[in-house]
Amino acid sequence: MSSPVPRRPLGRTGLTVSILGLGAGRIGGPETTPADVDRLLGTAADLGVTLIDTARSYGASEERLGHALQGRRAGFVLSTKLGYGVDGVPDWTGRSVEAGVDGALGRLRTDVIDVVHLHSCNRELLDRGEVVEALHRTVRAGKVRVAAYSGENDALELAVRSGTFGVVQCSVSIVDPAALATAVPEAVARSVGVLAKRPLGNAPWRFDRRPDAEDVAEAWERFQALGLDPAGEPWAALAARFSAFAPGVASILLGTASPDHLLAVARALEDGPPPAPMLAAIREAQARVGSGWAGRI
Ligand SMILES: NC(=O)c1ccc[n+]([C@@H]2O[C@H](COP(=O)([O-])OP(=O)(O)OC[C@H]3O[C@@H](n4cnc5c(N)ncnc54)[C@H](OP(=O)(O)O)[C@@H]3O)[C@@H](O)[C@H]2O)c1
Repeated sequence: MSSPVPRRPLGRTGLTVSILGLGAGRIGGPETTPADVDRLLGTAADLGVTLIDTARSYGASEERLGHALQGRRAGFVLSTKLGYGVDGVPDWTGRSVEAGVDGALGRLRTDVIDVVHLHSCNRELLDRGEVVEALHRTVRAGKVRVAAYSGENDALELAVRSGTFGVVQCSVSIVDPAALATAVPEAVARSVGVLAKRPLGNAPWRFDRRPDAEDVAEAWERFQALGLDPAGEPWAALAARFSAFAPGVASILLGTASPDHLLAVARALEDGPPPAPMLAAIREAQARVGSGWAGRI
């Protein structure tokens, strides 16, 4: 029997999260059944995975989680992302955020959501203040524990420096080094919790040739440019270890609907960060070919 996935504090929020979280972006489609989600959450609970991240835009993900969380909600820190997709309400308005929180509470079948992110709004919207103030009203109303921002680049840096968010979510992986250079150290200095999205860099090693999906294609091109040799370790394990132990990251949000994949990464993280020579090779390659890579939203 292995020990549970270790936990870390999530910045200054008072929440503690497992260093491996479940990114529930892959359970929203028609190929996933309620029984699949139930099994996935059962595996997560058995492993000590205590963080689940979803979003308004992940198909039926919120509804399915709400169903599967009945009776075990207290065992998880629940995170979602919103700002759009409310019937009859213009996106990225104060109303879309407040009504979005109410909608998410209903779909997730809970009284309070632990972390709610503004889902990739740009810096102009952050500057204008309306959506940020609306999110804070939902915190004061006791519907949300922590106001958070998800995004990249200049908007992410503004969100971190603003002092108004307890958590930020950004891409961190072997093919996503941008946030590690600036936003993540700044977040750590301000005790803002950091959640690493796309922690496997969308698993680009799966493809023999450039895939069609634009975000994955970009990851694939970066992966080819890095030219790394995993020295016999499965890429998923090595990539997860890089992201989960990157300085400042509280937890990685692994995108999977597969209990076996969740288990494999949980086991890989037992080995800690990549060996020092491998870590040095990854960082050297990132510095050599990836210094101009922008954060992938
Ligand atoms: N805020 C945002 O805008 C944003 C954007 C992107 C992602 N995210 C967050 O980050 C999460 C993860 O993102 P993502 O799914 O795009 O990228 P990811 O986690 O880097 O990669 C997911 C890919 O890795 C594969 N995988 C997972 N575990 C594996 C294992 N043990 N062995 C081999 N392959 C494995 C998955 O395949 P299988 O499905 O077969 O397991 C899937 O193809 C999302 O669910 C979400 O929570 C947020």
